[in-house]
Amino acid sequence: MSTVQETTATPVVIDGVRGGPPVRTLRRDRWWVGPVLVVLGLSAFAAFSTWAAFRGNNYYVGPSMGRDYLSPLYSPCIAQICQYKNDAIVGSWWTWSPAILVLVFPLGFRLTCYYYRRAYYRSFWWAPPACAVADARPRYTGESRFPLIIQNVHRYFFYFALIFAGILTWDAIAAFRFPGGIGVALGTLVLVVNAVLIWGYTLGCHSCRHFCGGNLNSFSKAPIRHWLWRRLSILNGRHMFWAWASLIWVALADLYIWLIAIGAFHDPRFI
Ligand code: FES
Repeated sequence: MSTVQETTATPVVIDGVRGGPPVRTLRRDRWWVGPVLVVLGLSAFAAFSTWAAFRGNNYYVGPSMGRDYLSPLYSPCIAQICQYKNDAIVGSWWTWSPAILVLVFPLGFRLTCYYYRRAYYRSFWWAPPACAVADARPRYTGESRFPLIIQNVHRYFFYFALIFAGILTWDAIAAFRFPGGIGVALGTLVLVVNAVLIWGYTLGCHSCRHFCGGNLNSFSKAPIRHWLWRRLSILNGRHMFWAWASLIWVALADLYIWLIAIGAFHDPRFI
């Protein structure tokens, strides 16, 4: 005799239609903590970076102070108005902060990043705010049409990001330069960590992973690309960590250089 018992499913209606009253969910956990932290973190960075980009001074600590530190928010410093450059490619007509000339590239890279997109869609737009929580956007149509289809430019920003990672690496190497020769100070370490974090974030990019391992029918026929893809996939799996760590550190690096430049902090030298 069969012992199979019939089970009856209890229908659950969460009433989570797109555009309905906000926060319809059956979840009882604190799902809102993540979105709140993202709002606070990104807002703090936006406020700081706006101040840092528009202040237009004290972004370089040069030979007069025995150092060679350039703030990553101002690198590369390509305007004639730059505090230390002789080889500027933008003439004296540019009188605003030189950071504005270059920040469009790293900002565009981050704004269109797959991780940040998820983060700000959820936390600022509530589209949706979390898994199994109703969407608050009646007209959100995903990224299949204008304007969000523009997010596809991310793959092109990635190529610029590679150039910027190289430039920031050069800045970190320059930070080993001291009047008497090679040395290491706290500012050197700050810029080296900055370069490492930027590389970790850039190489873990989904576009980079696709660039190295995509459009292949068989990995066995492309062993080098397969090897690269596997390594990049490790970084990609922790992309959120690299995104936040590199974002916070770039702000700290600028703050550190500003503090030295205004004379509020003495940069200790170890070697
Ligand atoms: S997906 Fe985040 S940097 Fe490309």
